[in-house]
Amino acid sequence: MKTLHVELGARSYPIYIGAGLLDKPELLTQHIKSKQVAIVTNETIAPLYLDKLVSNLAHFSVETVILPDGEQFKTLEYVGKVFDKLLANKFSRNSTLIALGGGVIGDMGGFAAACYQRGIAFIQIPTTLLAQVDSSVGGKTGVNHPLGKNMIGAFYQPQVVIADADVLDTLDDRQLSAGLAEVIKYGLIRDLEFFEWLEHNIEALLARDKRALAFAIERSCANKAEVVEQDEMETGLRATLNLGHTFGHAIETGMGYGEYLHGEAIAIGTCQAADLSKRKGWLDDDDVERIIRVFKKARLPVTPPADLDVERFIDLMAVDKKNVDGQIRLILLAQIGEATLPVNVPRELLELTLKSYGRA
Ligand code: NAD
Ligand code: GLY
Repeated sequence: MKTLHVELGARSYPIYIGAGLLDKPELLTQHIKSKQVAIVTNETIAPLYLDKLVSNLAHFSVETVILPDGEQFKTLEYVGKVFDKLLANKFSRNSTLIALGGGVIGDMGGFAAACYQRGIAFIQIPTTLLAQVDSSVGGKTGVNHPLGKNMIGAFYQPQVVIADADVLDTLDDRQLSAGLAEVIKYGLIRDLEFFEWLEHNIEALLARDKRALAFAIERSCANKAEVVEQDEMETGLRATLNLGHTFGHAIETGMGYGEYLHGEAIAIGTCQAADLSKRKGWLDDDDVERIIRVFKKARLPVTPPADLDVERFIDLMAVDKKNVDGQIRLILLAQIGEATLPVNVPRELLELTLKSYGRA
């Protein structure tokens, strides 16, 4: 097992990464300071891992909340179901909430924990590659709104993140690829050496080579922790983790939540951001081709949906947390391995990318 740390003063916590971690109850129980524990999960993950988790908590008073599975349920309404359960069972302010699932459950569970009685202890047990490399670390929690992705939320750090690589065995290939989109992101924004490693090891990751996966998870979490430690509340640097996300979130919202997986939308959005970076003069054609090639190798889509025209795209991109005074601001690439901070982009240039990149 490897232990990384997110150093945030009083809000610091460990990330445990390794195989068989769900079979080591003490890893979890040492971080629980209450008798009452709620587990939030969904109907796909519950039959796979809930019993094991509950059996690890024999000495606690455990309630479970099993939500429907899907990005379309990442809403205030369904977070309300968590509050219903906590209140019906008289959960106190010192209780603990465990999110067992992918990014959807992690974001919702964390948001419920942040809000319930103004904040209860929260633990992340991420079960998708995407959640293990990104969403479980760093404390962004929240839900979608019909008009914008992740628009309601809170920064709320967990007590611990337990990433058991074995649970990825039951993840389907499409979801594994979606997770790789965020892995590739770290290489592009701040870790050229990792990007080069990925160029040579995507096949091993898709084949679920355990050593390759362990390395990718550790390196991704290390990158994420370093960024979050420097800018927990996203006043600057942390926004670089949003490379491709303004385009990607527009695709997710515009096409209907769940139509494109988050990682798929981010893969397309990152290629669009690369195209725009080229138009700014920062990348050349070879760089853009190199980026597209890695996403394609990871079996991710790289062209935007034909149904979203330029006007609609821009309208959707205008609802983004990086925007200031209504001005769209994007993370672009100064070069492969180095992201820019949010930049204002002239509308004509953005339109050129939206009109030309990936359009037949
Ligand atoms: P997800 O949570 O929807 O999980 C993907 C699918 O895999 C679901 O059907 C789920 O039930 C299933 N699943 C989960 N674990 C499984 C397992 N071990 N075996 C079999 N099936 C399993 O999607 P995701 O890609 O994990 O997360 C995407 C979400 O994360 C988006 O809502 C996105 O906005 C959010 N996100 C948040 C952050 C953050 O910093 N908070 C970062 C990136 C993404
Ligand atoms: N996934 C983006 C962030 O955590 O900031």
